[in-house]
Amino acid sequence: MAYQIRKAAVIGSGVMGSGIAAHLANIGIPVLLLDIVPREVTEAEQAKGLTLEDRAVRNRIATTSIQKLLKQKPAPLTAKKNLDLITPGNLEDDLEKLADVDWIVEVIVENLDVKKSLYEKVDAVRKPGTIISSNTSGISIDAMAEGRSEDFSKHFLGTHFFNPPRYLKLLEVIPAATTAPEVIEFMTAFGEDVLGKGVVIAKDTPNFIANRIGTYGLLVTLREMQNRGYSIGEVDSVTGPLIGRPKSATFRTLDVVGLDTFMHVAKNVYDQTEGEEKKVFEAPEFMKKMVENGWIGAKSGQGFFLKKDKEILELD
Ligand code: NAI
Repeated sequence: MAYQIRKAAVIGSGVMGSGIAAHLANIGIPVLLLDIVPREVTEAEQAKGLTLEDRAVRNRIATTSIQKLLKQKPAPLTAKKNLDLITPGNLEDDLEKLADVDWIVEVIVENLDVKKSLYEKVDAVRKPGTIISSNTSGISIDAMAEGRSEDFSKHFLGTHFFNPPRYLKLLEVIPAATTAPEVIEFMTAFGEDVLGKGVVIAKDTPNFIANRIGTYGLLVTLREMQNRGYSIGEVDSVTGPLIGRPKSATFRTLDVVGLDTFMHVAKNVYDQTEGEEKKVFEAPEFMKKMVENGWIGAKSGQGFFLKKDKEILELD
């Protein structure tokens, strides 16, 4: 079967989903960007007389993400007009529209059960032959494909973009045991020729390749910093501009990734390793506390740095 991506859907409009939608729009591919329906109306919505039944409220999460694309740095869009190619929506009202796309990219919270429950809904509406991929940072692709229809399983694989998706060239393609060879072949060629990425095919092992190494490196750095009393500024300097990285490979990166997402990714590999190696993947207590406090990085305006004035936060 020859595949062609004329229209795509991105499910999950957070840090990565909005960036992936922008990357597709930059290429000229129309994108449906879906997120969940908010559980509450905001004060501003209430003042306008809006309720949870109104589309404006129901599409709020995806719409807000699209608006943010204009303000982000580095710019996710090559031109403002590319926004016209991204249509916001929500998973309750627009689920059936997934039958109209050639590629569905799942970019929701890093949790196997939540992802599986979404796939069940998607499986019921997608048309046969639609490619579906997950942007998971490291959850087993085989585990996610389990229980799905034969056609879904043949067309399902991991497509792991890196943050920010417009700029970072790496794309890990992770086949499931059930993925059809022609789907792997198509996605590899599409990733390189259309998305402009350098594709690496990774095996379905916990956190694949880049995040296995990346999570390990970050956690070892944090442990060394705590044991030896280095400051956030010192660590960011020596893993940042001074050695030719635009920002830093440590704290600023964690703020950009999102501490909540990083904790899910670290836990995924922690749960699946044994012995001495397992200890390395245990996230430090102070990061657990930061997540509990809502200090999850740039997306909440507060992480290791404050978004606005880049002030370093006290950790205890
Ligand atoms: P995020 O927290 O910024 O966004 C997640 C989005 O998913 C939110 O808009 C949320 O409302 C939505 N969502 C949650 N549950 C949902 C559901 N049941 N149905 C539909 N939407 C739902 O997360 P982020 O960082 O964009 O991560 C998304 C995925 O991409 C995760 O699997 C993560 O591991 C992966 N990833 C993250 C990277 C990063 O640097 N943040 C890099 C590469 C992969």
